[in-house]
Amino acid sequence: MSNRAVAYIEPGKVEVETIDYPGLELKDGPGVAPANVGRKCRHGVILKVLSTNICGSDQHMVRGRTTAPAGLVLGHEITGEVVERGPDVEFVQVGDVVSVPFNIACGRCRNCKERKTGICLNVNPARPGAAYGYVDMGGWVGGQAEYVMVPYADFNLLVFPDPDQAREKLLDLTMLSDIFPTGFHGVVTAGGGVGSTVYVAGAGPVGLAAAASAQLLGAAVVIVGDLNAERLAQARSFGCETVDLTKGSPEEQIDQILGVPEVDASVDAVGFEAREHAKNAEEAPATVLNSLMTLTRAGGALGIPGLYVTDDPGSADPDAQAGTLKMRLGLGWAKSHVFTTGQCPVMRYHRALMQAILHDRVHIAKAVNATVLSLEDAPRGYAEFDKGASRKYVLDPHGALQGAQAA
Ligand SMILES: NC(=O)c1ccc[n+]([C@@H]2O[C@H](COP(=O)([O-])OP(=O)(O)OC[C@H]3O[C@@H](n4cnc5c(N)ncnc54)[C@H](O)[C@@H]3O)[C@@H](O)[C@H]2O)c1
Ligand SMILES: [Zn+2]
Ligand SMILES: [Zn+2]
Repeated sequence: MSNRAVAYIEPGKVEVETIDYPGLELKDGPGVAPANVGRKCRHGVILKVLSTNICGSDQHMVRGRTTAPAGLVLGHEITGEVVERGPDVEFVQVGDVVSVPFNIACGRCRNCKERKTGICLNVNPARPGAAYGYVDMGGWVGGQAEYVMVPYADFNLLVFPDPDQAREKLLDLTMLSDIFPTGFHGVVTAGGGVGSTVYVAGAGPVGLAAAASAQLLGAAVVIVGDLNAERLAQARSFGCETVDLTKGSPEEQIDQILGVPEVDASVDAVGFEAREHAKNAEEAPATVLNSLMTLTRAGGALGIPGLYVTDDPGSADPDAQAGTLKMRLGLGWAKSHVFTTGQCPVMRYHRALMQAILHDRVHIAKAVNATVLSLEDAPRGYAEFDKGASRKYVLDPHGALQGAQAA
């Protein structure tokens, strides 16, 4: 059987290619860690991919800001139907419709047992933590494809209670594989809760998901900052306040909204490609971290889902090329700030957020302006997203989302 998939070719370029139909074994290919070649996955399933989203994390690779190899098959945000299961899968059934956490986790190691599934010790020979279709993440083949293999299926997968209902709500449920739990984790780890004031840096899909999560968690005021006017308008469309960072640093605008230049909780939904707070701003990777320390109350916390890298060969700054940033840590120390970094452990949140979607407590597809494209149109989605379109692009390899619109 054929399998069409989106592959990274070179900076600024992705292509849809025909690759092998997946098997229950990790074969050699671009980005596959040598020690993972030939790894047997009797505990895995093959999914027919019903939806798979383009992420800002993919853009870091496609912009040439990582060491991703040519030919790497992309895609870590996957929802699908089980079409085949390995002999060691006990509970997941053929025909189940499932959400795949973007973190790959074994369910057996010390970190998995502590629910730290973003840093599983057994799935990536190079470092803790793995993901599908991602540089340095073990070489697990990406899911921006018609079919994909998911290892440790019983542990990793969230099975939707009713496959027909799941298909109906697919455009919302597709956000459970990454950005909804990630945004939620950002707010939870920042201490955002009932009656809190929350600042979210970045109005991309993760920032908007964090803002919607802060509302779900009962925040009194949610303020979103960005330099992109269209994305700020999207944040206002569901009740957020906004600050326009082309006008300078956010404290003064936050003061106008809240009467004080600080918030209880703050979230970095930007990461290392952060820009300065000015018109036509240059990149300055520590901007958001320093800004959040400035505007978060003493005793508050920073949720930092925004991605920071150990190597950024594309940076103009030699320090940043090795992941070294000019962070004003003394400021955070003086205010006893708590920082939470790293991959979101999706499994900690996805079931509860699924229930919130299924019972209409939240409209996450609408908040992030989910926009459906065919798999063959992926290169256009990448190009538009790179230009800052205020959309979360969802690829639809089998037509499961035909006509679906965020409601
Ligand atoms: N930790 C995790 O598990 C996890 C999961 C998913 C995504 N991420 C990361 O989250 C980040 C956001 O993802 P996304 O898909 O929304 O990306 P995105 O690129 O679409 O959004 C980033 C936004 O930040 C804005 N921005 C730049 N500098 C800013 C500044 N100084 N202040 C405020 N906004 C600024 C940009 O204009 C852009 O709109 C990325 O770094 C991504 O890799 C992390
Ligand atoms: Zn993602
Ligand atoms: Zn593990």
